[in-house]
Amino acid sequence: MNDALARAESLIDLTPDYPEPGVLFRDISPLIADGPALRAVADALVEPFAGRFDIVGGIEARGFLLAGYVAAITGVGMLAIRKAGKLPKPAAAVSYSLEYGTASIEAPGVLQPGERVLLLDDVLATGGTLAAAQQLIRDLGAEVAGSAVVLELTDLGGRAHAGGDVHTVFTATE
Ligand code: PRP
Ligand code: HPA
Repeated sequence: MNDALARAESLIDLTPDYPEPGVLFRDISPLIADGPALRAVADALVEPFAGRFDIVGGIEARGFLLAGYVAAITGVGMLAIRKAGKLPKPAAAVSYSLEYGTASIEAPGVLQPGERVLLLDDVLATGGTLAAAQQLIRDLGAEVAGSAVVLELTDLGGRAHAGGDVHTVFTATE
């Protein structure tokens, strides 16, 4: 790992017992707030997928920040994958389980058939969110070009749940 990435990793904030007892919550807000760290992480997220995606899909909410930035530096557009109930015309919806609760995601009908979507998010925990986003892309008739997260929590089995092929910049145990 290069110095810029090592510094970026050190900027991830840890909060015990948030949002409920027993969960050690990782927040990438300080990393996102630092220009060189954000650039290093964005470059590392897309590096294996260079030239192999047409649009970036960001999962609400922290995934939006990564996807908007990556879309800008790579010159592609961005698909905003929303939590349920936020879109006037959702084209598809998928429900899933979280480490702490259940949720549903939706997307607008803006993808072309076969369009290659690179999915981005901040954290891979149980993998429910990423698996749901992958299903959402397929339900929309598009293709998952790849999935990449800033931080994988390796003890939670998320990689297997999300189809195994997830690119991660950093890993941590729970
Ligand atoms: C967090 C995180 C991922 C997801 C990972 O989002 O940003 O999207 O959980 O968990 P999983 O692998 O167990 O599905 P959250 O649903 O807390 O929403 P937020 O980004 O709006 O805080
Ligand atoms: N950070 C962000 N999202 C999460 C986490 C976390 O530690 N755990 C599950 N989803």
